[in-house]
Amino acid sequence: MARKPIVQYVVEELVANGVEDILFVTGRNKSSIENHFDSDPELTRLLKQGNKHELLAELEFEDLEAHFFYTRQRAPRGLGDAVLCGANFAGEQPVIVALGDSILGLNAQSRAVSRMAELFDVKRASAVIAVEEVPREEVRHYGVVEVSENADGTLLVSRIVEKPSPEEAPSTLAVAGRYAFSPLIFDMIRRVKPDKRNEIQLTDAIQMLCEEGKRVLALKLPPEERRYDIGNFPSYFETFVEFALADPAYGQDFRLKLEKLLARTQ
Ligand code: G1P
Repeated sequence: MARKPIVQYVVEELVANGVEDILFVTGRNKSSIENHFDSDPELTRLLKQGNKHELLAELEFEDLEAHFFYTRQRAPRGLGDAVLCGANFAGEQPVIVALGDSILGLNAQSRAVSRMAELFDVKRASAVIAVEEVPREEVRHYGVVEVSENADGTLLVSRIVEKPSPEEAPSTLAVAGRYAFSPLIFDMIRRVKPDKRNEIQLTDAIQMLCEEGKRVLALKLPPEERRYDIGNFPSYFETFVEFALADPAYGQDFRLKLEKLLARTQ
């Protein structure tokens, strides 16, 4: 995305929100992620020798105060199954789940994850889910929650539906790629039956939490912390352009180029 790989934005966001131990659940042929987050002394040395300060600055993330762990989901059996790969990593601790195809806030500036963790603790929740308003015709791409507002303003989730039609959707609040879970979620995932495509849906496990009367809360993202969905081409293109326009070094020039391009291709 613009200057950095998307996964780097996600990691920087998590670290800025106080997450210290990060487990990547990847698939076959994704060892590039491990290499990316490893330090590269040879490259650093060459850049220093060549006085390439701008490029050196781009490697600063290698010094991030975080520990990285890696595991693989051995077959694409759905998001629930991928999350279950983190069960031993989590042990008895609560976890944040962050989907790699979503960036929160322009340049990942969001602090929603910190607020989710706080809400999780204060309200002794079993899950806190980041949600955002989407146009009704887009609900079919997301998990959608039914909520009621508590007296203190928190949103209590009573039901969650995966990728409903606009008519079936219980609201227009879509799950936005960040979750805080108690380890109870792993027990639920183990009980979920695979769907028609033989995938274990995380949404089904969350629905079980609701059915068992566990406290599942939603945290609504404000517009300035909106989710950039990189999981489909139209929204990927839009995100790239928005991030490029905001680039402190190149944004201004890019704007002029874009204006010319738009005028030419009208
Ligand atoms: C997944 C979840 C969905 C959520 C979405 C957010 O869907 O199943 O509930 O709203 O991520 O990006 P996927 O994008 O994997 O189809």
